[in-house]
Amino acid sequence: MSNELTLRDVADERGVSLGAAIDPDTLRRDPSYWKTASSEFNVLTPENALKMGPLRPSRYAYDFRDADAVVEFGENHDATVRGHTLVWHNQKPDWFQAWEYTPDQLRAFLRDHIHTVVGRYHGRIDAWDVVNEAVADDGSMRKTVWYDALGEEYLADAFRWAREVDPNVDLYYNDYGADEVNEKSDAIYDLLERLLERDVPVDGVGLQLHALGDWPDPDSIAENVRRFNDLGLEVQITEMDVAFHQGEEPEDPLEAQAEYYSEVVEACLEAGCETIVTWGVGDGTSWLRGFKDFGERYTGDPLLFDDRYEPKPAYHAVKDALQD
Ligand code: XIL
Repeated sequence: MSNELTLRDVADERGVSLGAAIDPDTLRRDPSYWKTASSEFNVLTPENALKMGPLRPSRYAYDFRDADAVVEFGENHDATVRGHTLVWHNQKPDWFQAWEYTPDQLRAFLRDHIHTVVGRYHGRIDAWDVVNEAVADDGSMRKTVWYDALGEEYLADAFRWAREVDPNVDLYYNDYGADEVNEKSDAIYDLLERLLERDVPVDGVGLQLHALGDWPDPDSIAENVRRFNDLGLEVQITEMDVAFHQGEEPEDPLEAQAEYYSEVVEACLEAGCETIVTWGVGDGTSWLRGFKDFGERYTGDPLLFDDRYEPKPAYHAVKDALQD
């Protein structure tokens, strides 16, 4: 009987949010993708459509079509939507050259961007990754156009501007490589503590959990979740995928992957993190297949569904973990 339930049925039953990153083009042209996305997940994140580059094809125009498509798809299928992301150093518009702005102009630019985008989806997006990847791997503040011009203050401003236009949406800081307790997550902890002490409206922290080759230890993830919770922050797993270093797959890679997915889900739920978003629907459209040299570095089958949207062992393992 339980085999007839979808992952989403099981997640709904358990009160957990289980999600996927969504690409609007694939949604438009691939019925299998559409069906899997709508029936198996109860939270969706536009994979690229809400980033500054895709949203702003020219200096004076916004193009919301792709973002609208994903948000409407979520609404039509009763899924919540995570907004990703307002301030990031990557995927900025091609025409945007930071040095053409004074720091004050850059602040005004960012404020307008946040007001416009958060305002448009007011009440329709449940959580925003307000700032993405502001901390470098060694725990220092990442040197980005925003940081170089505005210093650490850009984070406080960004969260406050988002709060001004949507008093109810949950506002997240999101990053990679900070899933476990480590130097980087320590630095993020300190950064968020500093912001909270100044009453900056941060509600949560997103742990991306791209488990690429080196898989974060589930116990350490749980410990990390707990300490952020103790700080008063929600924690969500926002971009999970699980791959091996090329040439280092174990004998049964799909089983090993399934085992890891279920360990992470169990550890997260136990620790108090109840939203887990995978970074894509099926392996065939995973970003690992096409991003930079990732194809040479990592195996490209990181998700719960295979290239034909058949559920993989990892799918069943997550389902079982949710039913325990
Ligand atoms: C990735 C997308 O999946 C790709 O399609 C795009 O080419 C590059 O960005 N961390 C993030 C995500 O916060 O936005 C990134 O998404 C993956 C890493």
